[in-house]
Amino acid sequence: MEMILSLRGVTASYDSIAAVKNLSLDIPRNRITAIIGPSGCGKSTLLQCMNRMLEEEPGATVSGEILLAGKEIQRIPKEDLRRRVGLVFQTPAPFPFSIYKNMTYAPKYYGLKDGESMRLLVEEKLKMAGLYDEVKDDLGKSAYKLSGGQQQRLCIARALTVNPDVLLLDEPCSALDVKSTSIIEDLLPELKRNCTIVLVTHNIAQAKRLADRVAFLYNGELIEYNDKSAFFDTPQETLTRDFLGGARG
Ligand SMILES: Nc1ncnc2c1ncn2[C@@H]1O[C@H](COP(=O)(O)OP(=O)(O)OP(=O)(O)O)[C@@H](O)[C@H]1O
Ligand SMILES: [Mg+2]
Repeated sequence: MEMILSLRGVTASYDSIAAVKNLSLDIPRNRITAIIGPSGCGKSTLLQCMNRMLEEEPGATVSGEILLAGKEIQRIPKEDLRRRVGLVFQTPAPFPFSIYKNMTYAPKYYGLKDGESMRLLVEEKLKMAGLYDEVKDDLGKSAYKLSGGQQQRLCIARALTVNPDVLLLDEPCSALDVKSTSIIEDLLPELKRNCTIVLVTHNIAQAKRLADRVAFLYNGELIEYNDKSAFFDTPQETLTRDFLGGARG
Protein backbone atom coordinates (compact mmCIF):
# COMPACT_ATOMS: atom_id res chain seq x y z
CA MET A 1 0.00 0.00 0.00
CA GLU A 2 1.33 3.39 -0.94
CA MET A 3 1.91 5.85 1.88
CA ILE A 4 1.15 9.49 1.15
CA LEU A 5 2.36 10.93 4.46
CA SER A 6 5.17 9.56 6.57
CA LEU A 7 6.00 11.00 9.95
CA ARG A 8 9.35 10.07 11.46
CA GLY A 9 10.14 10.95 15.04
CA VAL A 10 7.94 14.03 15.10
CA THR A 11 7.96 16.07 18.28
CA ALA A 12 5.82 19.20 18.57
CA SER A 13 6.07 21.56 21.50
CA TYR A 14 4.48 24.71 22.82
CA ASP A 15 7.01 26.83 24.68
CA SER A 16 9.24 23.74 24.94
CA ILE A 17 6.50 21.57 26.48
CA ALA A 18 6.01 18.60 24.17
CA ALA A 19 2.42 17.95 23.05
CA VAL A 20 3.41 15.32 20.45
CA LYS A 21 6.33 13.09 21.39
CA ASN A 22 8.66 11.35 18.99
CA LEU A 23 5.80 10.11 16.88
CA SER A 24 6.17 7.98 13.75
CA LEU A 25 3.21 7.18 11.54
CA ASP A 26 2.58 6.22 7.91
CA ILE A 27 -0.68 7.33 6.35
CA PRO A 28 -1.91 5.28 3.37
CA ARG A 29 -3.09 7.05 0.23
CA ASN A 30 -6.81 7.05 -0.63
CA ARG A 31 -7.79 5.77 2.79
CA ILE A 32 -9.42 7.26 5.86
CA THR A 33 -7.15 7.25 8.88
CA ALA A 34 -8.87 8.12 12.14
CA ILE A 35 -6.97 9.62 15.05
CA ILE A 36 -8.59 9.11 18.42
CA GLY A 37 -7.59 9.71 22.02
CA PRO A 38 -8.55 11.68 25.11
CA SER A 39 -8.86 15.45 25.16
CA GLY A 40 -5.45 17.12 25.26
CA CYS A 41 -3.53 14.09 23.95
CA GLY A 42 -2.20 16.04 20.95
CA LYS A 43 -4.56 15.21 18.09
CA SER A 44 -5.05 18.77 16.84
CA THR A 45 -1.37 19.53 17.30
CA LEU A 46 -0.46 16.50 15.22
CA LEU A 47 -2.81 17.49 12.38
CA GLN A 48 -1.37 20.99 12.35
CA CYS A 49 2.13 19.57 11.90
CA MET A 50 1.05 17.86 8.70
CA ASN A 51 0.55 21.05 6.68
CA ARG A 52 2.94 23.22 8.70
CA MET A 53 0.09 25.19 10.24
CA LEU A 54 1.71 24.83 13.66
CA GLU A 55 4.55 27.06 12.48
CA GLU A 56 2.10 29.97 12.54
CA GLU A 57 1.54 29.45 16.27
CA PRO A 58 3.83 31.68 18.37
CA GLY A 59 6.06 29.59 20.63
CA ALA A 60 5.38 26.33 18.82
CA THR A 61 8.22 24.21 17.45
CA VAL A 62 8.29 20.99 15.44
CA SER A 63 11.17 18.57 14.96
CA GLY A 64 11.53 15.29 13.11
CA GLU A 65 10.64 14.49 9.53
CA ILE A 66 7.34 14.63 7.67
CA LEU A 67 7.30 13.39 4.09
CA LEU A 68 4.50 14.08 1.62
CA ALA A 69 4.72 11.55 -1.23
CA GLY A 70 8.36 11.10 -0.27
CA LYS A 71 9.30 14.77 -0.06
CA GLU A 72 10.15 16.53 3.21
CA ILE A 73 7.38 19.11 3.71
CA GLN A 74 9.86 21.73 4.87
CA ARG A 75 11.13 21.73 1.29
CA ILE A 76 7.69 22.28 -0.20
CA PRO A 77 6.61 25.93 -0.43
CA LYS A 78 3.87 26.52 2.15
CA GLU A 79 1.24 27.67 -0.38
CA ASP A 80 1.85 24.58 -2.43
CA LEU A 81 1.82 22.30 0.60
CA ARG A 82 -1.43 23.79 1.90
CA ARG A 83 -3.14 23.42 -1.45
CA ARG A 84 -2.21 19.75 -1.44
CA VAL A 85 -2.85 19.20 2.26
CA GLY A 86 -5.99 21.01 3.42
CA LEU A 87 -6.88 21.45 7.08
CA VAL A 88 -10.31 22.07 8.53
CA PHE A 89 -9.90 23.32 12.09
CA GLN A 90 -11.75 22.00 15.12
CA THR A 91 -13.34 25.42 15.60
CA PRO A 92 -14.67 26.59 12.24
CA ALA A 93 -12.79 29.66 11.07
CA PRO A 94 -14.45 31.16 7.99
CA PHE A 95 -12.86 34.24 6.47
CA PRO A 96 -14.64 37.52 7.31
CA PHE A 97 -16.25 37.66 3.88
CA SER A 98 -19.38 36.46 2.18
CA ILE A 99 -20.10 32.76 1.77
CA TYR A 100 -19.33 33.07 -1.93
CA LYS A 101 -16.01 34.83 -1.38
CA ASN A 102 -15.00 32.23 1.20
CA MET A 103 -15.54 29.62 -1.48
CA THR A 104 -13.76 31.44 -4.31
CA TYR A 105 -10.81 32.72 -2.32
CA ALA A 106 -8.47 29.76 -2.76
CA PRO A 107 -9.38 28.82 -6.36
CA LYS A 108 -8.82 32.47 -7.35
CA TYR A 109 -5.52 32.55 -5.52
CA TYR A 110 -4.43 29.46 -7.40
CA GLY A 111 -5.41 30.96 -10.75
CA LEU A 112 -9.02 30.11 -11.63
CA LYS A 113 -10.49 33.07 -13.51
CA ASP A 114 -13.55 31.97 -15.44
CA GLY A 115 -16.72 33.15 -13.67
CA GLU A 116 -18.98 30.33 -14.81
CA SER A 117 -16.48 27.61 -13.82
CA MET A 118 -16.17 29.34 -10.47
CA ARG A 119 -19.94 29.41 -9.96
CA LEU A 120 -20.19 25.71 -10.77
CA LEU A 121 -17.29 24.86 -8.49
CA VAL A 122 -18.89 26.75 -5.60
CA GLU A 123 -22.18 24.96 -6.15
CA GLU A 124 -20.57 21.53 -6.44
CA LYS A 125 -18.51 21.82 -3.28
CA LEU A 126 -21.30 23.39 -1.20
CA LYS A 127 -23.51 20.49 -2.28
CA MET A 128 -20.85 17.96 -1.30
CA ALA A 129 -20.68 19.45 2.19
CA GLY A 130 -24.49 19.44 2.43
CA LEU A 131 -24.79 23.21 2.73
CA TYR A 132 -25.96 24.32 -0.69
CA ASP A 133 -29.72 24.17 -0.16
CA GLU A 134 -29.50 26.24 2.99
CA VAL A 135 -27.43 29.06 1.49
CA LYS A 136 -28.05 29.04 -2.26
CA ASP A 137 -30.29 32.12 -2.21
CA ASP A 138 -27.98 34.08 0.03
CA LEU A 139 -24.40 33.46 -1.08
CA GLY A 140 -23.59 37.15 -0.52
CA LYS A 141 -24.31 36.87 3.18
CA SER A 142 -21.43 37.18 5.64
CA ALA A 143 -20.07 33.77 6.63
CA TYR A 144 -20.09 35.00 10.21
CA LYS A 145 -23.88 35.09 10.12
CA LEU A 146 -24.05 31.34 9.62
CA SER A 147 -24.66 29.01 12.55
CA GLY A 148 -21.72 27.06 14.00
CA GLY A 149 -22.71 23.91 12.15
CA GLN A 150 -23.17 25.81 8.90
CA GLN A 151 -19.76 27.43 9.34
CA GLN A 152 -18.25 23.99 9.90
CA ARG A 153 -19.76 22.72 6.64
CA LEU A 154 -18.65 25.90 4.85
CA CYS A 155 -15.08 25.27 5.99
CA ILE A 156 -15.27 21.69 4.71
CA ALA A 157 -16.69 22.90 1.38
CA ARG A 158 -14.01 25.59 1.18
CA ALA A 159 -11.26 23.04 1.79
CA LEU A 160 -12.61 20.99 -1.12
CA THR A 161 -12.42 23.87 -3.62
CA VAL A 162 -8.75 23.21 -4.40
CA ASN A 163 -9.12 19.42 -4.68
CA PRO A 164 -6.51 18.61 -2.04
CA ASP A 165 -4.56 15.34 -2.08
CA VAL A 166 -4.93 15.10 1.68
CA LEU A 167 -7.74 16.47 3.80
CA LEU A 168 -7.08 16.88 7.51
CA LEU A 169 -10.37 17.07 9.38
CA ASP A 170 -10.38 17.98 13.05
CA GLU A 171 -13.69 16.90 14.60
CA PRO A 172 -15.63 17.84 11.47
CA CYS A 173 -19.00 16.84 12.89
CA SER A 174 -18.67 18.25 16.41
CA ALA A 175 -21.22 21.04 15.82
CA LEU A 176 -23.44 19.12 13.40
CA ASP A 177 -26.86 17.63 13.90
CA VAL A 178 -27.69 14.06 12.89
CA LYS A 179 -28.68 14.97 9.35
CA SER A 180 -25.59 17.06 8.58
CA THR A 181 -23.37 14.48 10.25
CA SER A 182 -24.70 11.77 7.99
CA ILE A 183 -24.14 13.98 4.91
CA ILE A 184 -20.49 14.39 5.92
CA GLU A 185 -20.18 10.71 6.81
CA ASP A 186 -21.52 9.78 3.37
CA LEU A 187 -19.18 12.26 1.70
CA LEU A 188 -15.90 11.03 3.21
CA PRO A 189 -15.83 7.53 1.67
CA GLU A 190 -16.65 9.11 -1.71
CA LEU A 191 -13.74 11.51 -1.40
CA LYS A 192 -11.34 8.60 -0.98
CA ARG A 193 -11.18 8.07 -4.72
CA ASN A 194 -9.16 11.27 -5.18
CA CYS A 195 -8.14 12.17 -1.68
CA THR A 196 -6.63 10.84 1.53
CA ILE A 197 -8.42 11.72 4.73
CA VAL A 198 -7.05 12.08 8.22
CA LEU A 199 -9.97 12.35 10.59
CA VAL A 200 -9.70 13.37 14.22
CA THR A 201 -12.79 12.29 16.04
CA HIS A 202 -14.08 11.94 19.59
CA ASN A 203 -16.78 9.70 18.25
CA ILE A 204 -15.64 6.07 18.44
CA ALA A 205 -18.69 4.88 16.52
CA GLN A 206 -17.82 7.32 13.74
CA ALA A 207 -14.26 5.96 13.58
CA LYS A 208 -15.72 2.45 13.38
CA ARG A 209 -18.03 3.47 10.56
CA LEU A 210 -15.57 5.42 8.47
CA ALA A 211 -11.96 4.58 9.15
CA ASP A 212 -9.71 2.16 7.31
CA ARG A 213 -6.98 2.60 9.89
CA VAL A 214 -7.08 3.91 13.43
CA ALA A 215 -4.38 5.57 15.51
CA PHE A 216 -4.72 5.96 19.25
CA LEU A 217 -2.84 8.81 20.89
CA TYR A 218 -2.30 9.17 24.60
CA ASN A 219 -0.38 11.95 26.28
CA GLY A 220 1.33 12.92 23.01
CA GLU A 221 2.45 9.39 22.17
CA LEU A 222 1.21 7.00 19.54
CA ILE A 223 0.08 3.99 21.56
CA GLU A 224 -1.46 1.82 18.87
CA TYR A 225 -2.02 2.02 15.12
CA ASN A 226 -3.69 -0.67 13.09
CA ASP A 227 -6.29 -1.59 10.51
CA LYS A 228 -9.74 -0.74 11.78
CA SER A 229 -10.93 -4.28 12.40
CA ALA A 230 -7.78 -5.37 14.23
CA PHE A 231 -7.74 -2.12 16.17
CA PHE A 232 -11.27 -2.51 17.48
CA ASP A 233 -11.52 -6.31 17.64
CA THR A 234 -8.15 -7.09 19.19
CA PRO A 235 -6.55 -3.98 20.69
CA GLN A 236 -3.07 -4.88 21.88
CA GLU A 237 -2.38 -2.23 24.49
CA THR A 238 -4.00 -1.86 27.89
CA LEU A 239 -4.28 1.90 27.39
CA THR A 240 -6.24 1.34 24.18
CA ARG A 241 -8.52 -1.22 25.79
CA ASP A 242 -9.19 1.08 28.73
CA PHE A 243 -9.94 3.99 26.40
CA LEU A 244 -12.30 1.95 24.22
CA GLY A 245 -13.91 0.39 27.26
CA GLY A 246 -14.49 3.76 28.84
CA ALA A 247 -15.82 5.14 25.62
CA ARG A 248 -18.23 2.24 25.35
CA GLY A 249 -19.40 2.26 28.94
N1 LIG B 1 -1.60 27.14 21.48
C1 LIG B 1 -1.18 26.38 22.49
N2 LIG B 1 -0.31 26.86 23.40
C2 LIG B 1 0.12 26.09 24.43
N3 LIG B 1 -0.27 24.82 24.65
C3 LIG B 1 -1.13 24.29 23.78
C4 LIG B 1 -1.65 25.03 22.66
N4 LIG B 1 -2.49 24.24 21.97
C5 LIG B 1 -2.51 23.06 22.62
N5 LIG B 1 -1.70 23.08 23.70
C6 LIG B 1 -1.46 21.97 24.64
O1 LIG B 1 -0.97 20.85 23.90
C7 LIG B 1 -1.56 19.65 24.33
C8 LIG B 1 -2.26 18.97 23.16
O2 LIG B 1 -3.33 19.79 22.73
P1 LIG B 1 -4.21 19.44 21.46
O3 LIG B 1 -5.08 20.61 21.21
O4 LIG B 1 -3.34 18.98 20.38
O5 LIG B 1 -5.06 18.20 22.02
P2 LIG B 1 -6.30 17.45 21.38
O6 LIG B 1 -6.00 15.99 21.45
O7 LIG B 1 -6.63 18.04 20.06
O8 LIG B 1 -7.49 17.77 22.44
P3 LIG B 1 -9.06 17.93 22.17
O9 LIG B 1 -9.59 16.52 21.98
O10 LIG B 1 -9.56 18.53 23.43
O11 LIG B 1 -9.27 18.80 20.98
C9 LIG B 1 -2.48 20.01 25.49
O12 LIG B 1 -1.79 19.79 26.68
C10 LIG B 1 -2.74 21.48 25.28
O13 LIG B 1 -2.96 22.12 26.50
MG1 LIG C 1 -8.22 19.07 19.35
